[in-house]
Amino acid sequence: MSRLPNSIEARDVAYQLHSYTDARRHEETGPLVIERGEGIHVYDNNGKRYIEGMAGLWSVALGFGEKRLAEAAARQMEKLPYYHTFTHKSHGPSVELAEKLVGMAPVPMSKAYFTNSGSEANDTAIKLIWYRSNALGEPQRKKIISRVKGYHGVTIASASLTGLPNNHRSFDLPIAGVLHTTCPHYRTMKADGESEREFAARCARDLEDLILAEGPETIAAFFAEPVMGAGGVIVPPEGYWEAVQPVLRKYDILFVADEVICGFGRTGELFGTTTYRLEPDIMVLSKQLSSSYMPISALLVNEKVYRPVADESNRIGTFGHGFTGSGHPVAAAVALENLKIMEERDLVAHARRVNPRFLARLKALQDLPLAVEARGIGLIGAVEVFHETLADIPGALGARVNQAMHAHGLISRNMGDALAFCPPLIISEKEIDEMFDVAEAAIAEVSREVGV
Ligand SMILES: Cc1ncc(COP(=O)(O)O)c(C=O)c1O
Repeated sequence: MSRLPNSIEARDVAYQLHSYTDARRHEETGPLVIERGEGIHVYDNNGKRYIEGMAGLWSVALGFGEKRLAEAAARQMEKLPYYHTFTHKSHGPSVELAEKLVGMAPVPMSKAYFTNSGSEANDTAIKLIWYRSNALGEPQRKKIISRVKGYHGVTIASASLTGLPNNHRSFDLPIAGVLHTTCPHYRTMKADGESEREFAARCARDLEDLILAEGPETIAAFFAEPVMGAGGVIVPPEGYWEAVQPVLRKYDILFVADEVICGFGRTGELFGTTTYRLEPDIMVLSKQLSSSYMPISALLVNEKVYRPVADESNRIGTFGHGFTGSGHPVAAAVALENLKIMEERDLVAHARRVNPRFLARLKALQDLPLAVEARGIGLIGAVEVFHETLADIPGALGARVNQAMHAHGLISRNMGDALAFCPPLIISEKEIDEMFDVAEAAIAEVSREVGV
């Protein structure tokens, strides 16, 4: 990094605490400063070009530098830069976006509620669920089940839902009443001789056993990503959702589909809910909703959730919840333009069209010496690497491969030893080839280093 005291790198180290970063290590290494972006590429402040293989944080569907989104933001800024939705107030963009999202929902939904991040949306979902249980005269029904390795965010409640140790360790989390059931990763969790379908059935039995052990009348909801993202891109085993959903219905447990990554085309359909024929009561949306050009997230709730919540707010005299930025007009205008562009360019169909190339190249990584599994669906995937010399330090090999990809001009993200690929939805077949050519070269380089 540049050591000049006035450099952006030195000022970053001096003034900024970074997310998901070892702060002491950062003092030594400094930041990678990204200056601009175009299509699937971003450029650092030295002019080096990278393929953004993660679409930022699984989010920039339209790629970087989509002028229409900037124009939509500017138009809205000039007309009404800010307003809110508290105390019966409203404005055009939030109404239009709510109507649009309820209309797009693959299962009947009643209302949209806007928040600013996936974490806030999941936190809000928990509060709605608790409020509803009280409204229904079931105050004991408050426990929430999510899954080991699930990712739902970092606020106190949503970090509790998240099933990853580093989101709990030293934060005194999870909070009481949030329980985690089996991670549906077939390769690592299967028993000897167990087929995928048998494993999926066992996951559903584990869930039911947990519900019975806790008391079904105490369980309010189950939160899950249709495909796990930050836990390492874990595609559910065959038959998983067919086995899990009846258990939820049997005990009248609400199902919250966290579509923060899967939503808007990532799985090759409009929603993960569509891909896996889910029947959620609440859908949580963010990221590709606005291509992350502006922070915005939304909850879609069905009548079963809305009705008692509305009654309770009437009994109390208000729904005592809301963020200053809920349904922010500029963010909503950008999201609307983003969805319009996605429809005009039929990006979901595009994702489906290029998906065979993406999956073929992803699966081919599995044949490389260090790779133990390549998994994916739509335009999201991961390759997991392993070598016995680094087996004692989980994530060390993944970090090394990630570094090599970076040096070769590809931004991936290693979650432990799983390296993720989640490029902008606009990616072409040629660009998919470029991305995986770099990934292959980087893995081959690290293979030579460790002597395989
Ligand atoms: C599935 C899922 N849910 C929730 C979140 C949290 O979203 P945010 O980082 O906007 O709080 C994320 C973030 O990656 C996510 O992947």
